[in-house]
Amino acid sequence: MVKPLRKAVLPVAGLGTRFLPATKAMPKEMLPVVDKPLIQYAVDEARAAGIDQFCMVTGRGKTALIDHFDIAFELEATLAERNKREALDLLREEAMPPGAITTVRQQVPLGLGHAIWCARTFIGDDPFAILLPDDLVLSKTPCTQQLVNVYNETGGNVVAISEVPREQTNRYGILKTGKIEGDLVEVTGMVEKPKPEDAPSNLSIIGRYVMLPEVITYLSRMEAGAGNEVQLTDAMAKMIGEKPFHGLKFEGQRFDCGDKIGFLEAQIAFSLARTDLSPAVREFLKKYVNA
Ligand code: UTP
Repeated sequence: MVKPLRKAVLPVAGLGTRFLPATKAMPKEMLPVVDKPLIQYAVDEARAAGIDQFCMVTGRGKTALIDHFDIAFELEATLAERNKREALDLLREEAMPPGAITTVRQQVPLGLGHAIWCARTFIGDDPFAILLPDDLVLSKTPCTQQLVNVYNETGGNVVAISEVPREQTNRYGILKTGKIEGDLVEVTGMVEKPKPEDAPSNLSIIGRYVMLPEVITYLSRMEAGAGNEVQLTDAMAKMIGEKPFHGLKFEGQRFDCGDKIGFLEAQIAFSLARTDLSPAVREFLKKYVNA
């Protein structure tokens, strides 16, 4: 029996330089796709997988993310006064139970691995999920639930993976693979941002992980990797062979919303997936595509 997964870490301390000037005074994770901020998609996805304890790793200028999960008393009072039931219900449906979200500060963004290490007290001895809010997945079964289903069978570490064009391996964490059974891949190695000629495969890790707490021991060594940052990939690689380690070719489409094109594509895909918006979006798209 594996230890049940109840915790998630949401690293949100990055600078979001690719989205300047939008991210000068507003965190990247508050950018909306259709009508929901990226951070809300991540929290909703984790909750749908049975996770009820959250830790946001934040930095300066990120208070909007914390406020987003608080009760907006004045707004709710005004909505109630004006009898805006629908808007009020929407806010209440998404409200978090008191104490469900804690935050820690990563004073300096030294890398994703360092951000996860900052959540070590929250993690304790428990397995945990990591969701990078700028990766969005549109799928039938929420991506984190797909990972949890594998974790419940295999235990150990599980990462969501997808195929990327060979020439783009230098943007991602790339896997070396062992046995492949359907969508499940045994991980035998991994390397952060390899040049295409050095990449052991074209299978990249996306921003969804189920991790054992032992990863913190390796992160504590604070070894700088690619880009001179403390890389999560390097710490994970050290656990291979010690614990089961699998990659899941998840069902669904992933959008890199930290990148302008990925973000724009997500707006289109998520709005087309909405029955209330899809007819109008289809209609106006024709205008631009045929121009
Ligand atoms: P990115 O690589 O997208 O970096 O981080 P970034 O700083 O957010 O954006 P750019 O590249 O400057 O445009 C991936 C995820 O890891 C978090 C980010 O917040 C994002 O969710 N992160 C990254 C941290 O929390 N701390 C870090 O030191 C680095």
